[in-house]
Amino acid sequence: MRHMVLLLSVVVAGRTTPAPVTRDEFIALEQRRSEAIRTHDLTTLRDYYPEGFTGIASNGRKVTRDELFTLFERVDPSTQASLDDLTATPAGPFVLVSAKLTLRSANGSTSQSRLFHVYRFEGGKWRMVTGQSTPIVEVTDNQTYLTELRETIRGRETLPAEQVFKNVRVLPTTVPGVTAERLLRIMDLAYSRGLGVACSHCHVVRHWEDDSKTPKTIARAMSRLTTTINRNLLGAIPELKDRNPAVSCPTCHRGQLKPALTMQP
Ligand code: HEC
Ligand code: HEC
Repeated sequence: MRHMVLLLSVVVAGRTTPAPVTRDEFIALEQRRSEAIRTHDLTTLRDYYPEGFTGIASNGRKVTRDELFTLFERVDPSTQASLDDLTATPAGPFVLVSAKLTLRSANGSTSQSRLFHVYRFEGGKWRMVTGQSTPIVEVTDNQTYLTELRETIRGRETLPAEQVFKNVRVLPTTVPGVTAERLLRIMDLAYSRGLGVACSHCHVVRHWEDDSKTPKTIARAMSRLTTTINRNLLGAIPELKDRNPAVSCPTCHRGQLKPALTMQP
């Protein structure tokens, strides 16, 4: 009997088969993975992602290991990652890990996603069989803010936006005659849904006039860029049949912060 116990503990220590799975172990594992991504540590990442790995990226596309590593190379090392709400569920030889990942960049903007990773114990290590990541857009929060704002501007919806709000500098020139209600619709449809982000990506929420977040100042430049394309460039192509050819934020962004450069082959 004593020998049996000893034998068992040796097998567990060598982990020829996975020992009872603990949540803490997978929190540590996922933290090491995030850190390796941040520091562009490909040696560690090759341990996590075996050759032949494919997963599903947050834009819904399949990615191979090489494509994933190319994406990781673009990660800004000043980005801070934190994990919440992690569960690790054994399923036969696999462990299913689900967690909420929050990324904070140095300029103060945050993005959240829900990750789902399938691990298998292989060659003495937990390695990822496949994985998927889905962006969390706090659309419910967006709706709460929009409802609040519509309440505060009641009776003044059709006044020019710059008379109702405190710090509207660009929209009256890029969208002439923009009203307070139209500004809110632009924020909801073109800016938030168009880029796939929450209001908080650009705003210190409930301090809407505050300009301290970089994406907000970029968005002003983007509004000018869009108007320049529409007024000066598209309009100068006489062969176009449409008399009002136009691009908008979603034309390029398609619900993502970084517009695609190529099509997936
Ligand atoms: C991509 C960045 C971006 C997102 C996302 C965004 N906004 Fe804005 N918002 C701006 C910019 C830029 C301005 C200023 C426009 C200007 O100067 O003409 C602005 C102005 C505003 C203003 C006027 C504030 C004032 O007093 O001057 C309000 C209110 C506002 N946004 C609400 C929202 C809400 C609510 C959401 C989410 C549904 C949202 N915004 C999402 C960039 C954004
Ligand atoms: C002609 C294509 C095009 C249009 C139209 C366009 N954008 Fe962009 N936008 C880009 C590109 C390209 C980038 C840079 C992506 C990168 O970092 O490589 C960008 C970046 C941004 C960023 C910075 C992303 C971040 O990480 O926060 C914001 C914010 C933004 N755009 C907002 C807007 C808004 C708001 C509109 C509409 C008023 C708009 N864009 C219209 C092409 C476009």
